[in-house]
Parts: sequence; C-alpha cells; structure tokens
Amino acid sequence: MAEAMQLAYEERGSGPVAVFVHGFPLDRRMWIGQLAGLAKIRRCVAVDLRGNGLSKIDDPDPSFSMDLIADDVVKTLDEIGADQADVIGLSMGGYVVFALWRRHPARIRSLVLCDTKSEADSDEAKAGREKTAAMVREQGMEALWEGLGPKLLASNPSDDDVTRLKEMFVAQDPAVIAADALAMRDRPDSTPDLPGITVPVLWIHGEEDQLMPIDGARATAEKIPGARFAAIPRGGHMAPMENARATNEALLEFFGG
Ligand code: MLT
Repeated sequence: MAEAMQLAYEERGSGPVAVFVHGFPLDRRMWIGQLAGLAKIRRCVAVDLRGNGLSKIDDPDPSFSMDLIADDVVKTLDEIGADQADVIGLSMGGYVVFALWRRHPARIRSLVLCDTKSEADSDEAKAGREKTAAMVREQGMEALWEGLGPKLLASNPSDDDVTRLKEMFVAQDPAVIAADALAMRDRPDSTPDLPGITVPVLWIHGEEDQLMPIDGARATAEKIPGARFAAIPRGGHMAPMENARATNEALLEFFGG
C-alpha cells in the first residue's frame, strides 16, 4: 500500500529561501523567533518533519531514517520552487542537515548547525534510544517530557519557554517520536564529512547546553573549514528559542543582513 504523507511547513518573509529543521521531539514552532527576526532578509520556511507537528503520516507503526527525512526536506524545496536554500538544523535537525549535505549538496547554499553533534550514537546511547522508543509507545509524550524536557533548557528557564516546549512535546504522536528515536540510533557518524564541507557554515550553540556541552561543539566546528561559531548566552539546548535575540544577531551577521 502506498504510504500517505503530507509535509507541512510554515513560511514568512521574502528573499532567498532559508529552511529551518527542528529537533526531537518537536516541530516547526520552535523557530517562531527566527521567522520573525529574519523575515526581512530571507523567505523563512520552517518544516515539520514527517509525522511531526502538522505533517501527517498514515502509518500506525512508522520507520524512518535520516536519509528519508533529508529527502523530505528536498521535496519541500521542490514544492516551493527553491533550487537552493540556507539550511538551519537544531540537534536532530542537525543530523538531518548532515544527511542532506551527503545526499543533496547542490541544494545547499549555506549550513547553520545549532546545538548538535557529528558523532554517531555509542552502544550505550543506542540502547537508550530503544528504551526511549519503548517508553514513549507505552507511556506517551507526557512521560518523555518528564524525563527529557527540563534538560533541554538552560538553568532557570522562563515560564514561557517551559510552556512552549511542553506544548510541542505533548502535541507529538508517540509512534512518530519512537520512529525518530530509532532513526537517530541508526544515523551514521558525520565526523568524516566535516573537512569536506565547502559551503559557508555557522555553528550556534547554547552556553548552557546540558545535553551537548559547548566545548565539544567548538572542537567539532573547528573541523569544518572556515566555520564560524556563535556561543549563545542564557541558552541551553534550545538556544534559538531561549535567546532568539542573540541567535538572530548571529544569523543576520552570517547572512550579511
Ligand atoms: C534533539 O534535541 O533533537 C535530541 O536531543 C537529539 C538527540 O537526542 O541526539
């Protein structure tokens, strides 16, 4: 049976296309601050990855890969008539962006990597993904929020950030989130690709990222020729959401706006 799927996205602004790819287990709404801040210089397109947010997938037990998800982003580029885009990905969105670079480099004008990493999962982390997938299928998104949600934010998060993040968590379909977790488990190591990236790169990272500490991110960014690095104060793993102003300043400078 053919798989029924509809990819949703939200757009704002005009100019060259910039595509925003969300993290796990979230959706396009995490980029609201960037769509508002960059609309003057970019046609900003925030996608909902397959099954997340408003993107619907007609499969009660889906199975994904980063390659499949990256190809979906290209489908959206095709749909909006964009030959190339600046591509911005946070965390799992960064894993998607690495797959996009491997599979469709000609579609990428520049890369922005936010609060992500290039390494594949360790055996321990792979086992953790399996536990996450099973837990979310059995207990739902509230249970994942309890275990993971607060770790995505800096210390002393604003009530507004907690509310926005939780709203996104609990809106997701547990079967899709389980499939995302297993796709992350199976992703390859992108570290060997870093020295061969030939487009301009900006790496944005929250100074207070608890999941992916900033020192490791700096060391990874240094492996990409000419990559710029912006440390975001008062930002955890969700730095673009937590400190949209500093993130947007870094993006505007990078895009020459
Ligand atoms: C994310 O924010 O997308 C995830 O934390 C990434 C991961 O678990 O590796």
